[in-house]
Amino acid sequence: MSIILAFDTSCDDTSCAILGEGKKSNIVISQNFVHEAYGGIMPEQAARTHFENIDQATKEALKQAQCNIKDIDFIAVTIGPGLLPSLLVGVSYAKGLAYRYHLPIIPINHIEGHIFANFIENDIDFPFIVLVVSGAHTHLFLVENFGKYKLLGKTLDDAVGEAFDKVARILGLGYPGGPIIDKLSKNGNPYSFRIPKGLSQKNTLNFSFSGVKTYVKNLVEKSKDLSKTFICDVAASFQKACVDVLCEKTLLALKKYKISRLVLAGGVSANSLLRQQMSQLATENNLNLYLPSISLCTDNALMIAKAAQFRMDLATFDFDLIDAKASLNL
Ligand code: KG4
Ligand code: ZN
Repeated sequence: MSIILAFDTSCDDTSCAILGEGKKSNIVISQNFVHEAYGGIMPEQAARTHFENIDQATKEALKQAQCNIKDIDFIAVTIGPGLLPSLLVGVSYAKGLAYRYHLPIIPINHIEGHIFANFIENDIDFPFIVLVVSGAHTHLFLVENFGKYKLLGKTLDDAVGEAFDKVARILGLGYPGGPIIDKLSKNGNPYSFRIPKGLSQKNTLNFSFSGVKTYVKNLVEKSKDLSKTFICDVAASFQKACVDVLCEKTLLALKKYKISRLVLAGGVSANSLLRQQMSQLATENNLNLYLPSISLCTDNALMIAKAAQFRMDLATFDFDLIDAKASLNL
């Protein structure tokens, strides 16, 4: 065993974690208050804020794990996919530490991190199907083994988390939209509006969420009633349309590939209706369902450290090979 110090600065959370030899910490410094004013993420501002916070995140992660930098054996860092200015801060900082303390770096794909977040709390057998739902991804993969991923379907336009964030903006709510819509939906009627589900009923494992978002935009523009009840009803109907289609396609994939293990990953897997409907789907279809704890659904560096434990083969002292990449396939 060895101790890994990991970083994730792929988007708008500055995160540093430690994992190994009985040590564990996970520090996430959120930038939500910075981006709230814009109703979305400003990439350059996100990078500046990462730069301001990364030192503190590292110190806190070491302190929480009762570790000294000299105890560290490996550095793991998210190299992509994500916002390039944000990724560059984490990658440069990781390289700086690696030079200074002569440590190898393990480059990690952010999506692989989200998937392996599930292994922090569970031992999961292969094969399984994973639904990755985040601000940038809506992907179904068949995971045959560590590092062996088969893409089964993905969004053809917006990611589901992006749709939650955009709909929240249309409704005049804050950022990030997902948790706010989740909360407001509890006071709304999900059957108030028949929001068409993207690519539903079609024999495809791909998704589409831009139509759902446009439908809500037109609904809000045409409505004279922007009362709290209206907003909660729209939020609940929108959320239901998204969750239904996510469940529908996931079940289609499980049946097509005859898989009985299902894993959820990414920020949107924190959604209460998605967790509830997936649990029901699992019971009805006799599936083993794995859901990360809420704090491990959204971006964090502990998931990067966990993925790194399975990716030791990538460890290198050739730091020229470690580069931030905005787009990176799994
Ligand atoms: O995985 P993540 O932290 O960052 C990316 O890799 O994109 O996911 C962030 C996304 C945002 O779009 C946010 O609105 C969404 O996850 N999200 C949620 C919930 N919590 C976070 N969406 C729906 N319901 C939630 N409870
Ligand atoms: Zn993420």
